[in-house]
Amino acid sequence: MTNPATHFSHAISRRPGASATKGLRATDRGAPDLARMRSAHDAYIAALRSTGAKVTVLDAEEDFPDAMFVEDTALCLPDGAIMMRPGAASRMGEVAQMRPTLAALFNDLRDIGGPGHIEGGDILFTGREVLVGKSARTDAAGVAELRIILDEWGYSLRELQTPEGVLHFKTDCSLLDPETILSTRLLDTGGCFDGYRVLHLPEGEEAAANAIRFNDVVLLPDGFPKTAEMLTREGYDIRPIDNTDCALLDGGMSCLSLRFNI
Ligand code: GLY
Repeated sequence: MTNPATHFSHAISRRPGASATKGLRATDRGAPDLARMRSAHDAYIAALRSTGAKVTVLDAEEDFPDAMFVEDTALCLPDGAIMMRPGAASRMGEVAQMRPTLAALFNDLRDIGGPGHIEGGDILFTGREVLVGKSARTDAAGVAELRIILDEWGYSLRELQTPEGVLHFKTDCSLLDPETILSTRLLDTGGCFDGYRVLHLPEGEEAAANAIRFNDVVLLPDGFPKTAEMLTREGYDIRPIDNTDCALLDGGMSCLSLRFNI
């Protein structure tokens, strides 16, 4: 049986709109180059499709500059999908844009109703448990509401803390296989990954932490040679993807898709 945390029949992504240049960012390091961002997005979709998965690519959503980062809108599990409640006010409306697509695919569709907030980027499903990092976008009330749904579905949730100044929990870690996590040393403190094998990002390449295991490949931001070499040596089939422009908006590989089995 394939692991639902690493192997997927489907993904959903959304094309970057022209408004992506206005996307949220912690530090302004210049506007993304739209043409290069779209070309990198095409390469990302092609890498997902190369594994045999069906990938739905939604139209750009100009009213929501960060809408290409679809992962934050929902958590998709074998039991159903849960619509998130983003902590960024400008991103709240993205959930309603995504909901009809997931409603057509999942029989059991739940909503985080509030008052808490939670974004998908703060959730790492490892197959054996769901790790959730509280952050500037995800608060205790949002996690508590998610826990009620996951209890019903039989998942164990572990509440953790995303380090100060890090956007999302998964900004700093990725699941490489059901036993192995790629993590920054900063995040991997306090035993949050006890029970897993942890590969630390080489010094100076912490920005490569947000990768995704998707079927038999690992999509990794391009331009991190030590990380690429480490993962290749460990036996992973890596697909480097240009993340230059998404990185300007604090986005990465996981942010660009919802991944699931139906
Ligand atoms: N630009 C991605 C985010 O801040 O949510």
